[in-house]
Amino acid sequence: MKRLTRDDLKRDAELNDLILKARNVAYRNAYAPYSGFAVGAAARDKDKNIYLGANLENAAYGVVMCAEVGALTAANASGAFNRLEAIAVVGFSFFPARHLSQIVTPCGRCRQLIFEASELSGHVDVYACSGDLEIIEQYSIAELLPRAFGPKTLGISNPPSPANAGMKPFEES
Ligand code: THU
Repeated sequence: MKRLTRDDLKRDAELNDLILKARNVAYRNAYAPYSGFAVGAAARDKDKNIYLGANLENAAYGVVMCAEVGALTAANASGAFNRLEAIAVVGFSFFPARHLSQIVTPCGRCRQLIFEASELSGHVDVYACSGDLEIIEQYSIAELLPRAFGPKTLGISNPPSPANAGMKPFEES
């Protein structure tokens, strides 16, 4: 784990942008009427494209989607799930509105999803941030999810997709 300061962010405009996007999507688009806890995630691929997610709650509490799920799903739909390099997560309570100094790290399920992306991509940095962005911690997924179960456990090192698994091509129109 590496603790980053505001000065680090000033020196790294790309990271600053990623983290601000994660905070802003939480602030603007989190749908969290039940927990009152907004979370935003921003994943960046190696071409510097950014994919956003905000938590999506539901009256049936058990089907809640985390912000990270949204960001990783958006990356996957754009073909970037295997080319990610970083994901930033920002969260804060908005009712009751509390202090913004609590850091949010990805939940266990999201760590598992990030691990898969990192196995395919080589490495994904995880930035866990407090709502006020005063605390930013940089983790490798191995730190957050040691001894993880992953594709290699199943003997898969080069996962096939429909497009490269030998399926007969068809018109995409
Ligand atoms: N949440 C996330 O979006 N990501 C996490 O990693 C932790 C939890 C959301 C789910 C729920 O909408 C709210 O935070 C409170 O648990």
